[in-house]
Formats: sequence, C-alpha cells, structure tokens
Amino acid sequence: MVENNTHAHHGHHGNGNMSEEEQKARIQQEINIANNMSHIKHKIVVMSGKGGVGKSTVAANLAETFNKMGYNTGILDVDIHGPNIPKLFGKEGEVLGIDEEKILPVMSEDGVAIMSMGFLLDSQDTPIIWRGPQKTGVIRQFISDVKWGNLDVLIIDNPPGTGDEPLTVLQTIPDVDAVVMVTTPNSLSQEDVLKCVTMTKKMKISNIGLIENMAYFICPHCEEKLNIFGESQGDKFAELMSIEFLGSIPLTEDVAKAVDNDTIISAKDEKHIVSKEFKSIVSKIEKSFLNKQ
Ligand SMILES: Nc1ncnc2c1ncn2[C@@H]1O[C@H](COP(=O)(O)OP(=O)(O)OP(=O)(O)O)[C@@H](O)[C@H]1O
Ligand SMILES: [Mg+2]
Repeated sequence: MVENNTHAHHGHHGNGNMSEEEQKARIQQEINIANNMSHIKHKIVVMSGKGGVGKSTVAANLAETFNKMGYNTGILDVDIHGPNIPKLFGKEGEVLGIDEEKILPVMSEDGVAIMSMGFLLDSQDTPIIWRGPQKTGVIRQFISDVKWGNLDVLIIDNPPGTGDEPLTVLQTIPDVDAVVMVTTPNSLSQEDVLKCVTMTKKMKISNIGLIENMAYFICPHCEEKLNIFGESQGDKFAELMSIEFLGSIPLTEDVAKAVDNDTIISAKDEKHIVSKEFKSIVSKIEKSFLNKQ
C-alpha cells in the first residue's frame, strides 16, 4: 500500500498543466505528425465563411481531379458534426482497418485515400456533442495516427467558419501549400469569407485562392446560363481581398444527382462543364501554389 503511494500521484499537477506522461505523449504526437506529413508533398485546405456553399463538393471534386491528373491523392474530412465526405465517395458505413497501431484510410474506387469522422461514428444520424479540446484532439490524431503513406496531395475539408476545426488544421499541419475559399455570389457569404481570409493571413499563409460555387444556373432544358444570384463577381471579390481567383462552378442538378448515385461529377463525367472547370482550377492551383509551370 505505502510503496504504491509514491507512484499514485506521480506527474499529477493542477489545472492547465500537463503531467509528465501527457507531455511525453504530446511530444511523441508531434514526432508522428512531422513524420506523417513529411510523406505528403502538398496540403490544400478548403474553407468557407458560410455553411452549405459547397465546400465538401469542391473538396471531393478537387481530390478526384488531382487523382485523375496522376497525383496520388488523399482527402481528410475534419467536419466532426456533419461529415459528408464518406457519402460523397459512396463509402458510408465503411469499417476502418488498423495496421501497426495506425488507422488505415478507406480507399475510393479510384484510389483516393479517405479519412473522416463519419467512419468512427456508429450512425450518421446520431448527433454528437464535442467540446473544443476534444475536437482538437481528434483532428490532431487524424493527422498523426492515420497511415496516409506517400501522397502527392492531401485535400482537407472543413466545417464552415473560423472555429476550432480550421484553426487546428492550420496550426497542426506544417507548410500548407494553399487555402481554397469557397463562396457563392451572395454578398453575405462573401463577408464571411473575408473573416476566413483574415484568419488565414494571420497564420502567415498567403497562398489563398477563391472558388465561386453556384455562380450561375444552367437550365437543364435549354442549357441557357442564368445569373440567378446576379452577375458573378468572384474575380473582382478576389482582387479586393488580394487573393487569387481560381474559377466559377455553375449550379447544376448533375452535381446533386451524382451525389444521389454515390459518385462525384469529376469522376463520373469528365466532359461535363463542371469537371472541365475543376480541371482548369487544378491547373491554376498547380501554377500559382504548387510551383508547377
Ligand atoms: N455547383 C453545385 N450545383 C448543384 N448543387 C450543388 C453544387 N454545389 C453544391 N451543391 C449541393 O449543395 C449542397 C451543399 O453542398 P456541400 O455539402 O458541398 O456544402 P458545404 O459547404 O460542404 O456544407 P457544410 O457547410 O454543411 O459542410 C449539397 O446538397 C450539394 O450537393
Ligand atoms: Mg461540408
């Protein structure tokens, strides 16, 4: 009894201080993060000010497009409250494998490595309550303990806004190559993008691009272009914020239909205007942010 006492409170400190074990675990995690990330050439973070503007759709299409262009690609979904990436790749309900204490990503049909909180939840319908520190812990583990292997590109999909998730991503992942902001032509959404741009610049990241999603509507009957949200202004808006305009994606029912069929438009129909637009966007990302001519 008495001899055990010497160990009982070992390393236990008051509020806010890490115990020795916690400090060791933290250092080990830092090492794992550095090791893991050193095998990933390019990291691209997708963000938006507002919800529902198409971040996950953009992230999935970017991943598919990079993959099709010959890049070994992965996608990390750090949306803990509403993970959509598994569904977009038709991989809902997939069980994760473990190898040498590391979590194996789920592979898409085309070979995109996918990791999402969705794979760790019993049911997509179960709402969960996470506090900041817990969320941060899980996201750090996605970066340190997932066996990503050698990747050319990792796309990271965030929930909207400037909360714990994007902050943790930007703080944890070393040398992020680019942050891609998604907005709709709606001006309120653009004001919120400005907040994200400001946060990103504060984190000393200046490679920021803008994608305008749902920029115009293509009538499914006559294929006429309709500016239902008013004239598209993505290029002017990007210029105003001193960030790079990457392109406009139209609102088309084919994008949503692909999701219903568990596919992504860039994977399913390479000739579609949306797929072509994503190819042009990826080329711009390569030239402006990945230093490829
Ligand atoms: N260009 C588009 N054309 C048609 N539908 C689209 C387009 N982009 C996105 N959508 C649809 O809009 C909805 C929201 O898209 P998505 O889930 O990608 O947004 P999000 O910004 O990731 O949302 P959240 O903030 O909840 O994470 C989805 O149903 C998606 O299929
Ligand atoms: Mg999303």
